Amino acid sequence: MAAISKIATGNGHGENSAYFDGWKAYEANPFHPVDRPDGVIQMGLAENQLCFDFIEKWLMEHPEASLCTAEGVNKFKEAALFQDYHGLPEFRQSKIRSEWIVMSGGATGAHEILAFCLADPGEAFLVPTPYYPEFDRDLKWRTGVELVPVVCESANDFKITIDALEAAYEKAQESKLQVKGLLITNPSNPLGTFMDKDTLKNIISFINKNNVHLIGDDIYTATVFTEPEFVSISEIIEQVECNRDLIHIVYSLSKDMGFPGFRIGIVYSYNNAVMNCARKMSSFGLVSSQTQHLIASMLSDDNFVDEFIDEMKQRLLKRHKYFTWRLEQIGIGSLKSNAGLFIWMDLCKLLKEKTFEAEMELWRVIIDDVKLSLSRRMDDFSMSPSILSPQSPLVRART
Ligand SMILES: Cc1ncc(COP(=O)(O)O)c(C=O)c1O
Repeated sequence: MAAISKIATGNGHGENSAYFDGWKAYEANPFHPVDRPDGVIQMGLAENQLCFDFIEKWLMEHPEASLCTAEGVNKFKEAALFQDYHGLPEFRQSKIRSEWIVMSGGATGAHEILAFCLADPGEAFLVPTPYYPEFDRDLKWRTGVELVPVVCESANDFKITIDALEAAYEKAQESKLQVKGLLITNPSNPLGTFMDKDTLKNIISFINKNNVHLIGDDIYTATVFTEPEFVSISEIIEQVECNRDLIHIVYSLSKDMGFPGFRIGIVYSYNNAVMNCARKMSSFGLVSSQTQHLIASMLSDDNFVDEFIDEMKQRLLKRHKYFTWRLEQIGIGSLKSNAGLFIWMDLCKLLKEKTFEAEMELWRVIIDDVKLSLSRRMDDFSMSPSILSPQSPLVRART
């Protein structure tokens, strides 16, 4: 057989890693209350399914938003012929569009575009732990960039400290890795917490001092369901001195609206050169004009958006309260959180011993016997067992 590329034959995608084992177990035997009562329940996926009744009602009331209805068909030809990576004019005019925005295939596409624009192969981004495991695929696989963990400890609720940032920066330098940026997810997947103003200010001062970029993944912004109020990086840079060329935001409608299948992502950057390149790269993963048309109509309906977000927050809060209360009743603690689609559970006392091997064994029992697919801490980043804190390991599950 003729040889094919290293990327095609290698395991950079990570599909053969333990992270995907839970997914595979679920796919092989998905739970169904009648047909497969002994099937696996998928709780390791961050899906927001709480408000589809709201969306479906809006769709019924707005047939003109779809191009495949009598009311919408007059826009069909225009949309079918549309090919411009700046996006449909009505999408540009809706809430999430301005000239500083480039569209991408979900946040996944946005992250890869930024990795390509900001770093060369072999250069690195710092990422606070624990982090969304697929960053290893999204940022590294095709770009050749590296991720260096900023080790955050459960002992102080995984707060990102200047010391932790400096330590990771030094470690990267010792490994001869050129650090090009810091990637933060706020609110955090998998913790369900968000950063306070001081932490964000520290982060801004760190990136300015070291002249490295900041990628802010904001895709869980609307899922904050209780006080205090969420503050985003774009608000903080209005308040402190900052070189805005270093700031880049990733957003998508996969979590806040619950539309991962529509692949609606954006890069929002203050840096002209980055935007210029990102715009050219976006042609590899554009959002279909049909989807743009539908979403632009939906997001232009201010009443709907406000009601949807209010209702979603209430339903998330209710689910979160119930879930953590039931966990407490059976003696399982969880990290205090007020955002996202996760619960960070402490299953420490179920371990035979505090090692990664024991954690893996427990996780296997949870999949094979309890039939729950959860994400494990150990998958979330590369760390040595020696830094396991007494709280570890913690496992997250979808609410
Ligand atoms: C923090 C984070 N970033 C990015 C993504 C990918 O999102 P998308 O479906 O928009 O590509 C996810 C999905 O779970 C996520 O949790």
